[in-house]
Amino acid sequence: MSQIRPLVAGNWKMNCLRTDGVALASGLAEKANAKGDLGCDILICPPSTLISDIVTVTDGSAVSVGGQDCHFAASGAHTGDVAASMLGDLGASHVILGHSERRADHAESSTLVRLKAMAAHKAGLQTVICVGETEQERDLGATLAVVNGQLAVSVPEGSTAQNTVIAYEPVWAIGTGRTASVTEVAEVHAAIRAELKIRFTDGDGFRILYGGSVKPSNARELMAVKDVDGALVGGASLKLDDFWQIIESCA
Ligand code: 13P
Repeated sequence: MSQIRPLVAGNWKMNCLRTDGVALASGLAEKANAKGDLGCDILICPPSTLISDIVTVTDGSAVSVGGQDCHFAASGAHTGDVAASMLGDLGASHVILGHSERRADHAESSTLVRLKAMAAHKAGLQTVICVGETEQERDLGATLAVVNGQLAVSVPEGSTAQNTVIAYEPVWAIGTGRTASVTEVAEVHAAIRAELKIRFTDGDGFRILYGGSVKPSNARELMAVKDVDGALVGGASLKLDDFWQIIESCA
């Protein structure tokens, strides 16, 4: 693990109604409070419907709250969408952008992700910008080209280590139980770091998270890889004990 303070982020995706979500977030805040300084930052990104409730129950704890997407416009005629300022208004500090599920389900391009990131930064949110190749792209040997291409277009000029986190999430490892090997993770994270250092003066300070079937049993070895500065966790973030064990592995 590098010297950067790690971030462990839970992406709840489209899961949890209020009762379960509030119980999960309260349990996490209680554990974090009982532990004192953990040596890592904790973020949970529930569905936007739960952000307000979860900000309330995590208030004063070490747990930050983020959204899972925002629109690129500041406001206006965009039925069903949520503006970055609206997430901030509820107390969210972060927003995940360009998750592969949004790239697939909503045909989001890296250009759109960049516009969203600019809007989020303008609204004072920190972005967690996701990149990652499909299985087919990996099989074709195109992993680094795909990831570098997404990175180059999705991350706006003017991004800093303070307002931007990168998450490498190989699509074939998401929700499949298949995790990238430490060699695969090391190769891609090193490439992302190199690109960030070329583009940004503080490129060596950006946090680069790994995501894709992170669980208690593999978190420690993944977090030990150079340039892995934390985890973006899906399924395991919905189970308090599993998520807590991952947090402890990263700290
Ligand atoms: P899983 O941890 O369920 O594989 O999901 C990863 C992910 O997509 C987090 O954003």
